[in-house]
Amino acid sequence: MKSTEISVPERVYIETFGCQMNSNDSDRVLSILTSSCNGPGGYVKTGDPFSADLILLNTCSVRDKAEQKVYSLLGRFKPVKIERPSVIIAVLGCVAQQQGLKLLKRIPYLDMVVGTQNLHRIRELLIAVKNGSERVVAVEESLTIGEDEYTVPTKVDGPKAFVPIMRGCDNFCAYCIVPYTRGREVSRAAVDIIAEIKELASRGVKEVTLIGQNVNSYAPPATGGVKLNENFSALLKEVVAVDGVNRVRFVTSHPKDTSEELIALFGTERKIATSLHLPVQSGSNRLLKLMGRGYTVKEYLGKIDLLKEVKPGIALSSDIIVGFPGETDEDFSSTMALIERVRYDNLFSFKYSPRPGTRAALFDSQVDPAVASKRLQILQKRQRQISAEKSEALKGRYLEVLVEGASKGDKNELTGRTACNKVVNFPGSGSGFNVVPGDMIELLITDVYPNSLRGVYNERGLLCS
Ligand code: SAH
Ligand code: SF4
Ligand code: F3S
Repeated sequence: MKSTEISVPERVYIETFGCQMNSNDSDRVLSILTSSCNGPGGYVKTGDPFSADLILLNTCSVRDKAEQKVYSLLGRFKPVKIERPSVIIAVLGCVAQQQGLKLLKRIPYLDMVVGTQNLHRIRELLIAVKNGSERVVAVEESLTIGEDEYTVPTKVDGPKAFVPIMRGCDNFCAYCIVPYTRGREVSRAAVDIIAEIKELASRGVKEVTLIGQNVNSYAPPATGGVKLNENFSALLKEVVAVDGVNRVRFVTSHPKDTSEELIALFGTERKIATSLHLPVQSGSNRLLKLMGRGYTVKEYLGKIDLLKEVKPGIALSSDIIVGFPGETDEDFSSTMALIERVRYDNLFSFKYSPRPGTRAALFDSQVDPAVASKRLQILQKRQRQISAEKSEALKGRYLEVLVEGASKGDKNELTGRTACNKVVNFPGSGSGFNVVPGDMIELLITDVYPNSLRGVYNERGLLCS
């Protein structure tokens, strides 16, 4: 089909893998494509790839398994392209950034490869494909944030929204591909972030999550030649001061950038949620050094202790890699000791996966995958017990909950999240209380399940705010 315009209404299907950055990117891509003010005609979203006119896979390459999933999905979509050659298939995100042109060579029926820093150009790239019937690769990297990169309104999910404040990573941990797929660290200007949050608040958003691969190494560029004295703590203070925003989260924080100043804010700023994801990766100093993480176990635990002190009841979560090259039984025992000491509410643990181009992939002491699997099992089993014990301790407590909407399982029930980031279901219509999404309420926790809590209105039926 040759046309200078995108015909209406075409259907777009998108599948998203990976982290919070990718889901936010997908939301923004969809906003661009479905908004009719953005060019001639808009797409409508479909959940069925086999009837779509545009198939988008927003990909992750953090572990080999995630990357392989993309190739197997593309294989499934090959018959669609044979049957309907006008269908456009595109790979977006981290695998696109990492593989670039190689992807087009490997997958002859692929039309577009759009890397992590070119997603805001999706419409223009689509038009190029349609006009010239050409295959397009857009993986250029930039050291600054483009003017139109974040102008698309953030998707509002009930009373919650995610706001990117920086992109990229400069840490180059020995195992990690992210610095290669997301490029160098660049922060958005604080004025733009605050303007976006004020706008979100005016649309009814009550909870904002600031996102970035290293959210707390936020450092905005100099404007007009003047370097502002702005760091993550300063930004956070501005965010909590926005009227209408009642709860603020941020993810992902790097332990080395988790300053005492930032920790202190958990004690003084009521709107900062009672939870923090602080990936430790290992409990062994030897491995932390090989990984290039920039902190010791002692330094990490010092920060954890301080967090618990300034914010009693804070829910902590973390990422751990088992089977990193050279990991001995002793190293693994140190990791087990660390999880006993911290008692995380939630833990994301992974078997080490060698990634092309990273330092650790060249280390010659790779761990037997069977040994790594066994260690992962042991770690996950113990963590399940700890998580259950931590949840159980919430029974009988009164917790502040942001009401999000109807519960998925039962339309007469409502669902929300506690400040410590746990899902709570509770009575909805007919309960005698008039509660709507966006309200902050206090609930008495009556039951605890593996993935959620159950609550009832407190005897006073009081709203918190
Ligand atoms: N920026 C964040 C996390 C980025 S990736 C941070 O620094 O913590 C998310 C998680 O994937 C990492 O925390 C790590 O636990 C895991 N991960 C990254 N590379 C990996 C690899 N090669 N093999 C296994 N897990 C990996
Ligand atoms: Fe990867 Fe390390 Fe950067 Fe996190 S800090 S994204 S683990 S390189
Ligand atoms: Fe994956 Fe890219 Fe995120 S590699 S974890 S989607 S930054």
